Amino acid sequence: MNEEQKKELIEKYKAEKAKGVKFWPDIIYKDLLVSFALFILLVGLAIFVGVANEPPADPSDSSYIPRPEWYFLFLFELLKYFPGQIEWIGTTVLPTIAVLALLLLPFYDRSPFRHWRKRRLGVTIMSVVVVGMVALTIMAVATTPPAAEEEVVAATLPEQILLGEELYGVHCVECHGAEGEGGEITGVEGLEGVVLDPINARDVMYTFTDETLFNIIDYGQPDLGMPPFGLGYGGELRRGDIIAVVNFMRYTWDDRAELPQEVAQASAVPALAEGEVPSYEVHIQPMIKRYCVSCHRPGKKNNNYLMRDYNEIMTTGDHAPNVVAGDLGSNTIRMLHREEIEAGGPMPPTKALKPELILIWEKWIAGGAPNTAAEAAGLTLPAEFLPVEATPTAAP
Ligand code: HEC
Ligand code: HEC
Repeated sequence: MNEEQKKELIEKYKAEKAKGVKFWPDIIYKDLLVSFALFILLVGLAIFVGVANEPPADPSDSSYIPRPEWYFLFLFELLKYFPGQIEWIGTTVLPTIAVLALLLLPFYDRSPFRHWRKRRLGVTIMSVVVVGMVALTIMAVATTPPAAEEEVVAATLPEQILLGEELYGVHCVECHGAEGEGGEITGVEGLEGVVLDPINARDVMYTFTDETLFNIIDYGQPDLGMPPFGLGYGGELRRGDIIAVVNFMRYTWDDRAELPQEVAQASAVPALAEGEVPSYEVHIQPMIKRYCVSCHRPGKKNNNYLMRDYNEIMTTGDHAPNVVAGDLGSNTIRMLHREEIEAGGPMPPTKALKPELILIWEKWIAGGAPNTAAEAAGLTLPAEFLPVEATPTAAP
């Protein structure tokens, strides 16, 4: 800056000063007015627009994804690049440098000019910081996983009961039996030989409220051998799942509650027409869900036979194949008939399936063990399953 420019600036400064706007009270007064207007605006927004509350905090909900407010997202994103041991660089060093850069601006950028072109250093630093913050915020938003599904409470009561039935089949049958009948536990690691009282009985249903049932399933009864099922206690069930199980128990076993018609229909194994070959999809799967999958799913140490889908049923197990199309001597059939064979004992271990259900298994296997109903439609049952035709009397 040369002498001439300096003089010019000083003149300007004097002229402005002579006009005489005082910080106190003039400027303060202006500030006050603006702050007050903003305050009114905020109050108005709070009253008329408001902020939607998140659901109440739930320590057992592990699907909740905690996130900072949007204006802190850039710091949050920064942390991702400095994991573990070097976290302090992201939490302390970089933000401190940024703040210092701003604080020290008057010392390292001493140019007296106001036009941005003459203040390259300051403008560059500011731009880098702002662009960095915006970019980090955008990245944080882009990588935020969508909030896990809301608590999955199946919408209608019948839906809940059906979901509960399925979950009961997966998680509870191995100990409490398909009908909640209890009895001596067989085929469950660690509880072999323990005898359980029925949980479907009237005194259980009449003494336990829904809330008590919920809590028993949620925390379990660890000292008695009942594992916890709530996510918050290391189990696999979300709150909505547990509610569904409770509803299933209540509406199926409590004689004061009436099972909705549609549930009774949906959960029954469909009846077979005469000569019809059952299919996995329509007839076998509902039975497996109810009577087998609780023990025959991944994570069970005492057997390797998985029964979650058609393919698993046909191919898995230490004594595979357990279902051989057309062969009534298949392991599964023999075990359903409560034979003790090389592959193991009677199945299900505690209580035999009803004869009419076993007959469906037999027809399925004898008819070719089809997967889908469409495949089954093209098959015919072997003669022994067909009704005895009135034998045509030979013509004389
Ligand atoms: C690994 C075996 C096991 C599994 C799986 C299991 N339970 Fe239990 N459950 C037990 C044992 C053991 C008890 C204690 C029995 C007792 O008190 O006589 C028990 C107790 C209960 C009780 C209380 C019974 C009473 O009279 O006090 C209920 C209700 C119950 N279980 C429901 C369930 C439900 C629903 C599931 C599935 C989500 C389930 N259990 C899964 C073993 C199991
Ligand atoms: C209470 C748990 C339990 C239930 C319920 C159960 N199983 Fe099993 N299953 C076992 C165990 C444990 C074995 C391993 C052999 C043994 O110890 O008897 C087994 C073995 C088998 C095997 C032989 C698998 C192989 O390749 O070694 C077949 C087949 C079988 N089960 C079919 C069924 C069918 C079909 C159902 C339902 C109708 C069923 N199981 C229900 C516990 C169970």
